[in-house]
Amino acid sequence: MSDREPIGVVGVGWVGLVTAACFAELGHPVVARDIVPEKIDALRRGEVPIHEPGLPVLVERNAERLTFTTEIGELLAAARLVFVCVETPPTYSGDADLTAVMNAVQEVRDGHRALVMKSTVPVGTGMTIRRRAPGIAYVACPEFLREGSAVRDFLEPDRVVIGSEPGDEEAADSVAAVYEPLGAPIVRTDVSSAEMIKLASNAFLATKISFINEIANVCEEVGADVTEVARGMGLDDRIGPKFLRAGAGYSGSCLPKDVSGLKQLAGNSGYHFQLLTSVIEVNELQKRRLVGKLAKHLGSLVGKRIALLGLAFKPDTDDMREAASLVLATRLQSEGATVAAYDPVAEEQARDLLPAVEMSPSALKAVDGADAAVLITEWPEFAELDWREAARRMRTPLLVDGRNFLDPDAVRRAGFTYEAIGRPTSRGNGEPSGG
Ligand code: UGA
Repeated sequence: MSDREPIGVVGVGWVGLVTAACFAELGHPVVARDIVPEKIDALRRGEVPIHEPGLPVLVERNAERLTFTTEIGELLAAARLVFVCVETPPTYSGDADLTAVMNAVQEVRDGHRALVMKSTVPVGTGMTIRRRAPGIAYVACPEFLREGSAVRDFLEPDRVVIGSEPGDEEAADSVAAVYEPLGAPIVRTDVSSAEMIKLASNAFLATKISFINEIANVCEEVGADVTEVARGMGLDDRIGPKFLRAGAGYSGSCLPKDVSGLKQLAGNSGYHFQLLTSVIEVNELQKRRLVGKLAKHLGSLVGKRIALLGLAFKPDTDDMREAASLVLATRLQSEGATVAAYDPVAEEQARDLLPAVEMSPSALKAVDGADAAVLITEWPEFAELDWREAARRMRTPLLVDGRNFLDPDAVRRAGFTYEAIGRPTSRGNGEPSGG
């Protein structure tokens, strides 16, 4: 058996399962607990319930070091370090719902365990928990992994943030020791600053996206190409090339929630976070712009058939939370269009959310007879699609690339009228080149 520190993980969702599997990969015995018996049963059979590249291999390879249970007692008996990875969904007001976090604290509070908070919580939560549960050592250790590259993000982090207060240093040292083999910079700080680092990081990323989306919108007015602009901007070390992809706005379970959460947190403490208000508004409008691009070519959308290519909020995940496709499909239907869709992995997740959308088994089937196609998730297979064949199958070969993913010239050569985000709709002397 391993001589590494045993680790407990509470909550086997995205973050929890990746955390459990990666700690096992680093040689730790891990006991992971969830209250949903079906999830635990599936994991015990070796089935990974989410689509995350690299995760099934890790779970299988480390099966001996990974124990899945519904019993908190089994976890507490095995581990001194307890990583809490439960969900903190937004409430209607934009505040985070801390019910699952507080239940976990309640379960761990007696027994002098170290509670390591991975869940994203409002700033101040850790200090409140410390006051309410003096029996535990509390360490804030926010997670920065991205869906779709979560395993790599965990094993090769840019940094690890560890927040603790006087009296809990020993627990914080243990957490630092667990992460030390990853060789990443470790930021040791206080609990509230650690919590703020997480929220501010996500809010900054969202701000970068809304910023480049607004630049894209201006590019459309003045004839510049936002992909060229982002390339030129990104080479400035102070700006950096990442998160400058203009598109249909940011979505998913994290950025929208954390931007609203930070805005709400500021508001609750009497500060109006002006910038984030705009970041959110720009993001909402950006999702709707795609409808305008369709209407520009098709006029009224009543009776039109629109194909959505991709449904997941981003590639390499089946997560549909806050996905731009939800807003778009609903909007198209309310304008009178029929919507067909294809996604390589998210169809099942999407079916209940979009009951009136026709799900297709392939991209070519989805575009059959369509008046337009909208690329909404940049799945690599769309770059490989036979676009000539797609154009042949459509009633009108109009393609709106909501992620600036495709090569405009190649798609135009295939016969399409091509619209993207912040890129010129025509080439050369202003004559449209496609269609
Ligand atoms: C985000 C953060 O990137 C992670 O660091 C963080 O740990 C995570 O939230 C979390 O809080 O748990 P994630 O939501 O998985 O990760 O996805 P991202 O890769 O950040 O993408 C978010 C959205 O922004 C997607 O809709 C994506 O399409 C969009 N995006 C991203 C753009 O529109 N443009 C870009 O340049 C980059």
